[in-house]
Amino acid sequence: MKTVREGFPEDFLWGGATSAIQIEGGYDKGGKGLGTGDMVTVGSRTSRRRVTRELQEGVFYPSHEAIDFYHRYKEDIALFAEMGFKIFRMSISWSRIFPTGEETEPNEEGLKFYDNVIGELKKYGIEPLITLSHYELPFALSLKYNGWGSRKLIDLFVNYSEVLFSRYKDSVKYWITFNELNCLLKPYGTYIAGGMLSENSDLTYDLEADTKQERLQAMHYQLVASAKAVIRGREINPEFRIGCMITYHTPYPYTCNPDDVMLAQEEDLINNLLCSDVQIRGEYSGQAVRYMHDHRIALDITDEDEAFLKKGCVDYYTFSYYTPFTLSKDPALELTSGNMARGIKNPYLKTSDWGWQIDPQGLRWALNNIYHRYQIPVMIVENGLGAADTIEEDGSIRDDYRIEYFREHIRAMKESIRDGVELIGYTPWGCIDLVSVSTGEMAKRYGMIYVDKHDDGSGTLERRKKKSFDWYRKVIATNGEDLT
Ligand code: BG6
Repeated sequence: MKTVREGFPEDFLWGGATSAIQIEGGYDKGGKGLGTGDMVTVGSRTSRRRVTRELQEGVFYPSHEAIDFYHRYKEDIALFAEMGFKIFRMSISWSRIFPTGEETEPNEEGLKFYDNVIGELKKYGIEPLITLSHYELPFALSLKYNGWGSRKLIDLFVNYSEVLFSRYKDSVKYWITFNELNCLLKPYGTYIAGGMLSENSDLTYDLEADTKQERLQAMHYQLVASAKAVIRGREINPEFRIGCMITYHTPYPYTCNPDDVMLAQEEDLINNLLCSDVQIRGEYSGQAVRYMHDHRIALDITDEDEAFLKKGCVDYYTFSYYTPFTLSKDPALELTSGNMARGIKNPYLKTSDWGWQIDPQGLRWALNNIYHRYQIPVMIVENGLGAADTIEEDGSIRDDYRIEYFREHIRAMKESIRDGVELIGYTPWGCIDLVSVSTGEMAKRYGMIYVDKHDDGSGTLERRKKKSFDWYRKVIATNGEDLT
């Protein structure tokens, strides 16, 4: 008989998470080509980001310098080590390795940059966790093929993955193929995850009207690309652990009206689980098939694709968790924001400065639902609070609200471990301040490390520890026991 597990396992992977377009900068350095993230302008809470087809004079593109991790990675990694990180999640910029996506040889200078970053992590005993594609692809592939709208991208991605798997065969164990693959089920995923342009003029980044057919086709191509990459990765090193990555929104029915309950279940089965069902079970679920039928979506799926999906299942499940979703059949209810996908306001929850609802218990719900469905190891690779921080007169940043946020989420994780969930790691989002994906702001700060960089691009880029830095160091040192 099993016993209840109290506390985190000894080898629990504490760390932090980032992505290339949000930290690196150096957008034109070392032979890098333009990536989809380089074409997105700054926005704000009220004005949307835009995607431009060419770089425009006088327009600010936050990813071009970001927080200049490209030149400052040594200083940043030293700070991560000081916090006691066991793992660091980062992504590799595809356009740094293949500037247009179609070169026959990879860009050696781009690879050297990642050799150095990975070497630096290893120096401190920090395990790298690499996302192969985090909201980025070479922009040339958007212009030429309409990004993931084309089947052509599958083999280009697999070739790119193969270069990285071979290069880091002995130095990287944990991989993720695509960040938040399931965001292609929502309109905002069109450009951000699919790199699809579909219009001639500039477009808003978080499109509201587009075709489901196109997005789901792109999703299918990514699922096949992910499966093929997993198969190839395993051939290169059978010890690799390659995971899926899902944006998970705990679905609550607004009332106990069975209509609301049904809507919440559909939200879960489609928007949360459809992609991981394919990536873990190797085929589309019955609900997915019905969903496509009901929405008159006919995908280009070959027998060969299905064979790859069957064979290329992932080893572990990773996800981002920020906000839950509330579902109701009543169209008059007030909406809220969160991860660019909007849901109904839940009257029991507080919201962040940016209107994202905060719900630690929803994390326990998600962990239980995920683990008891798939029964493979689970890692939370994003979770955090985007908040406006202030520097006090004495130079300190007392982000007690962030500490409180993490404390409650870590408590929920502990409860889920008592529930029997095999949770293997936690990498809070933006362990260092970085560019917000939805708004392009720096003011929406997630980090335990402050970066002196502002929404207009000004700032010294100096790094400064926030109060949460020391708090998290203590949490890691006590393996999650001391949360005071
Ligand atoms: C996740 C993304 O959806 O949310 C991250 O994977 C992103 O890239 C994070 O930064 C937080 O969203 P935002 O819009 O506050 O940056």
